[in-house]
Amino acid sequence: MKAEKPFVAVYDTKSYDREYLSQTIGADALNWYFHEFRLEPETAFSADGASVVSVFVNDVVNRDVLKHLAAARIRLVALRCAGFNNVDLETAKELGIAVTRVPSYSPHAVAEHTIALILTLNRKIHRAFNRVREFNFSLRGLVGFDLCGKTAGVVGTGKIGRLVGEILRGFQMRVLAFDPYPNLDWAAGNSIEYVELRALMRESDIITLHTPLTPQTDRMINHETLDLMKSGVILANTSRGRLIHTQALIKALKSGQVGGVALDVYEEEEGIFFEDLSGEILHDDELARLLTFPNVLVTAHQAFFTHEALSEIARVTAENIRRSIAGRSFIDGTVL
Ligand code: NAI
Repeated sequence: MKAEKPFVAVYDTKSYDREYLSQTIGADALNWYFHEFRLEPETAFSADGASVVSVFVNDVVNRDVLKHLAAARIRLVALRCAGFNNVDLETAKELGIAVTRVPSYSPHAVAEHTIALILTLNRKIHRAFNRVREFNFSLRGLVGFDLCGKTAGVVGTGKIGRLVGEILRGFQMRVLAFDPYPNLDWAAGNSIEYVELRALMRESDIITLHTPLTPQTDRMINHETLDLMKSGVILANTSRGRLIHTQALIKALKSGQVGGVALDVYEEEEGIFFEDLSGEILHDDELARLLTFPNVLVTAHQAFFTHEALSEIARVTAENIRRSIAGRSFIDGTVL
């Protein structure tokens, strides 16, 4: 008799998740059950009968959910992202549920999007695009500055920050960096200078954030640090929304202290980013205010969104699921 394919309950899926997961290598060996809703205590019952669940950044994998999964004899939670702050790892361990993630899918995707945002903001391409389509060919208000010769500050020199630093060096910028764990060989090889965080903030014309969200980085951009910065500084954040205190940022934008902000992440993005709310009332007044500034550019957490990154997320997720079902060990570095 032919064995039935194991069920995989996949949460918070969009059309692109379904497309890439169901086309990845070995996908045929699994019975994918794609849910658009999130995994949370109220929806955990929908995992009954599955062998594995797969979740994304906004699913809630807390103690209640994990207890339900354990009772349903689910042995793996496969995250389709790098961050895991939404999973109660201690409880998962206690209940014998493995948790895997995709630690690095494409640092190039995020680094290149960061540069796209910085260039767009500085040269006001977002405004020029709209203007020209209305046959307004005036250049008034579109003056930018040469990156060449200016100073960029890269906060966090992990996989993404290092790539951003290297690309900015390609524009002949002076690049300063801060990281509690500096990579001195990389810095020397790319003529990049590590400095203290406050010095970076004081000296940079452009500051770009590439740190994880930790108690040390939580709202690292706040009233006090914004005051340290050069007047007219450009800020870019493609890491985590809570690195920036939004109210402080709005104040600094209103006063002109900050000359432009490019955000791919936002403190309160949950429930907003990734959704089409075009026919609805936006209830987040701070996001609404941010979107009124001509010098604020927001994308909705799309820095990772390339063909290469989606393929890699699908490949690693499906491979770990198959290994779990076969009782084999997970891909190196993916288990938490
Ligand atoms: P990584 O782990 O390779 O590098 C993070 C770096 O931050 C490390 O070098 C670490 O030492 C440094 N760091 C830690 N605490 C710091 C502090 N207090 N100040 C300065 N630096 C500090 O991570 P990776 O892959 O470079 O990712 C960076 C961030 O990008 C992630 O935390 C994630 O939140 C974000 N990300 C955003 C995506 C998007 O689509 N917008 C997609 C993927 C990642």
